[in-house]
Amino acid sequence: MRIAILTGGGDCPGLNAVIRAVVRQTFHSYSGEVLGISDGWAGLIEGRISPLDLRAVSGILPKGGTILGTSRTNPFKVEGGVEKILKNMQEFCIEALIAVGGEDTLGVASKLSDLGLKLVGVPKTIDNDLSGTDYTFGFDTAVNVATEAIDRLHTTAESHNRVMVVEVMGRHTGWIAVEAGMAGGADVVLIPEIPISVDEVCKLILQRHSRGKDFSLVVVAEGAKFQDKEMSKMIVQDEKLDAFGHVRLGGIGGILARAIEEKIGFETRYTVLGHVQRGGTPTAFDRVLGTRFGVAAADLVARGEFGKMVSLQGNKIRSVDLKEAVGKLKTVDMELYEMASIFFG
Ligand code: F6P
Repeated sequence: MRIAILTGGGDCPGLNAVIRAVVRQTFHSYSGEVLGISDGWAGLIEGRISPLDLRAVSGILPKGGTILGTSRTNPFKVEGGVEKILKNMQEFCIEALIAVGGEDTLGVASKLSDLGLKLVGVPKTIDNDLSGTDYTFGFDTAVNVATEAIDRLHTTAESHNRVMVVEVMGRHTGWIAVEAGMAGGADVVLIPEIPISVDEVCKLILQRHSRGKDFSLVVVAEGAKFQDKEMSKMIVQDEKLDAFGHVRLGGIGGILARAIEEKIGFETRYTVLGHVQRGGTPTAFDRVLGTRFGVAAADLVARGEFGKMVSLQGNKIRSVDLKEAVGKLKTVDMELYEMASIFFG
């Protein structure tokens, strides 16, 4: 078999584990060959496609990022994009495609699958917000990075009797905020799923201070929303929409820190973790999950099971229809959030 693989959307630790596993499994179990597409859908539209052999994937397992490069190109927004994809699939004799991505990349994959393209999806996002899978790879690394940051901020917060606000990623959902908040012992966690007022945040901080604690750690997801009328709009860095209709988020940490200081007078600092959460070496969990997903994706292609996405259910690798995965976002489990909130204040 002759297949091609692309990585699309924001990069994510564990992508190289998937690429390596796809190449190794295709070569060893099916005597097939793999082509690598550069920069996501952009490379498939433009025909930037080249062979990925065993040597090309040697030594990439612990590396962050993606050796293929990535982009946020949406072929349905590029003139003749879909036609060019279909033409290049033929021209490069690609029998099937493996698309590794989040809601946007797999949304495109699902539409292309409806048009008859033979493809399989692999779920990727540090935000962990894709349906159809319990976890996406990259999430564990992001949670670990954020937890380490919270631990570090804890000691300086305590030394200075300050409130520390930590802004983490999470455009639509607060998975990173909740899990890193729980792991790091955060005193308040704000997530997009549960809008909260600044007064409520301050109340929790005051409650903690009344217990004799002079410092607090507040974790806020970049996409969190406030109940307060004047702050109820999503806080963005740039209103300009990307090819998938997303604005650039960021800045909520600073706004919240100022509001806390103004309302209750505690000295407050903020830290935006940003892309640090996405870069660098993947955790062992993400390497293993990426490897399992890559092997399973090559197996699905070999069995001709197209229009599917590999997924983790419990501790088993399964597959689901791509449509199911991209139909709706997987928001934070409210049981988990409620458990985290036991430790607020
Ligand atoms: O989709 C994952 C994500 O990490 C979001 O949480 C974040 O808003 C976005 O990517 C930022 O990505 P970029 O800066 O690459 O557009």
